[in-house]
Amino acid sequence: MQANPTVVTLTKPALDSTLLLYSPDENNAQRFSARLRSLVMLSWCDSNQFSASRRVLDAHQARLVLLDFSKGYTDASAEIARQLMALDPGLVLLGIGSAASDRGAGVLCAMRAGLRDFIDIDAGDDEILDQLKTALVQWRTAADGQPARAVKRGQLVLICGVRPGLGSSTLTAHLGALAASIKPSAVAPASANNVMLLDLGHSSGDVSLYLGTGGDFHFDDALRNANRIDATLVRTAVPRHVSGVAVLGQPRERNISLGGAEVGPLLERLLTMFDLVLCDLDSRMLDDVAHTLLKMADEIWLVTDQSIGSMVALDACLRQLERAQARDLRVSLVVNRHDEACGISGARIAERFSVPLLATLPERSRPLRTTANRGSLLHETAPNDLYVRALAPLLDRFRLRTKRDAGRGGLRMLINRLGGNLWKRR
Ligand SMILES: Nc1ncnc2c1ncn2[C@@H]1O[C@H](COP(=O)(O)OP(=O)(O)OP(=O)(O)O)[C@@H](O)[C@H]1O
Ligand SMILES: [Mg+2]
Repeated sequence: MQANPTVVTLTKPALDSTLLLYSPDENNAQRFSARLRSLVMLSWCDSNQFSASRRVLDAHQARLVLLDFSKGYTDASAEIARQLMALDPGLVLLGIGSAASDRGAGVLCAMRAGLRDFIDIDAGDDEILDQLKTALVQWRTAADGQPARAVKRGQLVLICGVRPGLGSSTLTAHLGALAASIKPSAVAPASANNVMLLDLGHSSGDVSLYLGTGGDFHFDDALRNANRIDATLVRTAVPRHVSGVAVLGQPRERNISLGGAEVGPLLERLLTMFDLVLCDLDSRMLDDVAHTLLKMADEIWLVTDQSIGSMVALDACLRQLERAQARDLRVSLVVNRHDEACGISGARIAERFSVPLLATLPERSRPLRTTANRGSLLHETAPNDLYVRALAPLLDRFRLRTKRDAGRGGLRMLINRLGGNLWKRR
């Protein structure tokens, strides 16, 4: 008896999904579409028309998004990838192109941009189908809020006082120590979050001072040894606070240049080793880091207060970001020393400058100064202090491994201590 013949349909693609494809080139879009037509349908979005809005994503119920990493389009696609990740960390982003045609340059750029995988249109159908299926499974099983990334890459958050003395080092020290001290629960053990602070603020050395970390290995040493930095060197040479947070600082007597070519590679390396890198950044350095830190950052937080001088400085900072093409969704505002009874409110500042307000931190001179003079941090002695509680929306922005244990164990305790729902999504 003859077996039933296998039915092969020539029209219906193997996957019952339509994927968004961002490309600036309609010919490429047609080529990729034709190549993948037996596997999946593509819906082309012109990258030149890209605006970081949820509208297109929602309209297509996008889960997997393809980005054209052909020669000449890599920078634009990397930029779109960054904005999509900020818009929806749950999206799975894949690069697409011909790996051989530019000898792997596109693949490398896609990986550097944090994409999960690269669809090589010259590969066989089976291989591509496997990649797409795996990506769909990853999307389905992705933990809530986890980023769509191929290689392990930590999150880079820049904390930049718009002018000196606004509290950015105090903020960086507290956030770093809190993020590092969130311990995995006994129920779902995972290693603790690995957090690094870069102490590159106006008065260099203050973060180390607030944390009481010393040591002889500084940021400029790391820059000189950028290609030698590995887990062992970090473990042995870089000072750590009791919370576990590692600190790369700068001695007061040495000026540091952030304009060098080694800054990018060093940061890339650190981001493969740390879940979170928080950088206290001197606003006068913004131009120097336009092509490194500003491009690589996942979030850029501008710290201001309610004074008129700070408004002028904030305006100048935003112009600098604009020049560096970094005034985008990643930028938000933290208003420190906030006093509702005086001056322009945080919400009004945010509205006036069209920058989202992430947090307002209350004026708490005395407790902050007292604990700093004792060599400790405020949450260590007063976990319920208003300043500590106001940090919750900022901690909420961190993509931490132990976040998934939010409902249990150590993190639950921390949430209770901070008196809010730390990880509620905005
Ligand atoms: N929310 C706050 N309320 C009151 N005082 C604060 C607050 N945040 C920080 N301070 C105080 O402001 C002073 C400067 O803080 P910090 O060193 O963090 O500022 P900075 O922006 O890093 O300064 P610099 O520009 O010198 O690097 C410190 O005495 C600190 O205790
Ligand atoms: Mg400082």
